[in-house]
Formats: sequence, structure tokens, C-alpha cells
Amino acid sequence: MMGRGMTARHTAEDLAEWDREGVVLLRDLFTAEECAAVRADFDTVFGRETGWDQSLDRKKPGSIGAFHTSQFKSIEALPFHSSRALNLIGLHPALIAFARDALRTDHVHLYQGQAWAKFTGDADYDQPFHADFANHTLTVPSEDPRKNSVTIFCYFTDVTDAHGATHYVRRSDSAPIAGPEATLNPDPAFQADLQARLQAVSRSAAAPAGTAIAYTTDVYHRGTNLTAPNGHRYAFMACFKKAGDDSIGFMAWPFHHTKPWANVFDVATPEQLACLGVQPPGDPFWTETTLARAQTRFPGWDLTPWRDRLKG
Ligand SMILES: [Fe+2]
Repeated sequence: MMGRGMTARHTAEDLAEWDREGVVLLRDLFTAEECAAVRADFDTVFGRETGWDQSLDRKKPGSIGAFHTSQFKSIEALPFHSSRALNLIGLHPALIAFARDALRTDHVHLYQGQAWAKFTGDADYDQPFHADFANHTLTVPSEDPRKNSVTIFCYFTDVTDAHGATHYVRRSDSAPIAGPEATLNPDPAFQADLQARLQAVSRSAAAPAGTAIAYTTDVYHRGTNLTAPNGHRYAFMACFKKAGDDSIGFMAWPFHHTKPWANVFDVATPEQLACLGVQPPGDPFWTETTLARAQTRFPGWDLTPWRDRLKG
């Protein structure tokens, strides 16, 4: 069964492509209604007049892409001062279902969950091709995808090539060129040649709202500039690993303890909370005392499933 107990919206073909290429476009992962609700929350969290901010850095004319800190200024981590739509989108059952199938496990952990708004002119997003392993592990990607992780990058606005579509290279296309470790080579001439060769076989992930691109940490990809006048792109980055894999990480959720976690706890299911490290009903962690303490911390959290298992 697809999804290992969660409602799957991906197909066996999607999973086969993921296994083969390390990257797959998941179409219609979210309904139009879900996208509209998430967009409304993005407007609440990030909404503003768009336009050029000349104070931000720019790429030098003629240079290949580069990273700039200004690319990441409209990113916010879970949870949000918004409705349940945005607070739960990174824990959507369809995402959990894909992550479980992709990593061949019943227990996945969300280790990165960020809403990312991009506005035309805010920054130079024209990144070089890179693989994400460098900031997801201190070592390197395994050749066994089940030992790596899955990033699911979800679009909630229509993304054309003028709206910063992610560009990516399938593993079968990059393999004859270079492994992911080639990004570590500091030689500028080597990098210029690498970038040109990857560019030649790259694909665009331009797609309508509701699409997600799932990719793993050895897959070459890059962010591109928004060029549509007054354009914006609303996206959510959800990264899952096998629960208990200490080699992979990005965020420690308690670090963000001053954020409005009740917005998540008050509406999430036990399975969704388990993806954040919350012990499921029946776990020995839960006693009368821990339940009472948890209720004090989150008065709106419906602990019925946990209480029922304690009685049983
Ligand atoms: Fe990346």
C-alpha cells in the first residue's frame, strides 16, 4: 500500500522515478482549496507591497550564480502566527506518506520546516547548481537513498520560469558529469566547467500551485531569479529523515520555543506530532504526571488519545 498508513497522493511511478533519479515532480499534491488557505496564511505572515529594494546585494554582471544572505530573508520556520493551514502544511498526510515510502520506513521525522516567500527584486536568487548535503549532514550523501533524507519543496502559487522555478538535474544525467562532492572543489575553472555541463542537462520545475518537487541530498539543483514584474512565489520546504537518524539535521524544534507552538499542538494529530518528536499514545513517556504537565504547557491540546492509551 502506498503511503504506509497515511493517505498517499503519489503513485508507484512517482516512487520509481524517485528511486531512480533522486528527484520527482509530484503533481496535484495539494488541492486548490488547500493552496488557497495556505496562500492566505502567507499573506498574513509575509504580505507587503512588492518592489525593488535597492539596498540588497546583486549578482555581478556575467558571473555564474552565487549565494547571498538576502535570498533567505523571507523565510520563517514552523510554527506561524496564522491559521492551521500553514501550521500543518509541512505535516500534511500526503507529505508524510511520500517520505515514508521514499525512505522505506514507518517512522519519519520532520527536521526542517520553513515557509519561504520570494518577491521579485528582493534579492539575487540565481544560485549555482549544488547538492544540499552540506547543510543536512556533516559528512556526505550515501549511495543508498534510504540512508539520506527527502526534501519536499511545495509550491502554493503558480511557478513559471519567471517566478523562480527550481532547476534540477536528474541523477542519471548528472552521474556521467560528477558526483555531489564536486561542489566541494574550490577551483573556479573547475566550477565554471561543472556549472556549464550541469546547465546543459538541467530541467525546470516550473509547475502550477499544488505541485511539489521532491529531491534528495545528492541531487544537483539551483534556485533561479524571479523576473515577473511584482511577482511573488510562496513555497514550503519540508525535509524528512528516518526517525532516529542522528547523522542528519537542520533544526531542533525546541530552539524555537518562543514561537506559537499551540497553533500546532491544538490541531495536529498524534501521527503529525510524532514527526516533530512527540511521543505517540502508548509510549512509556506518558504518565499521569507528564500528561498533566503537557496540559499545563498546551491547555488547548486534546490529549484524549494519549489518556485513552494510558487507561488501556
Ligand atoms: Fe538547495
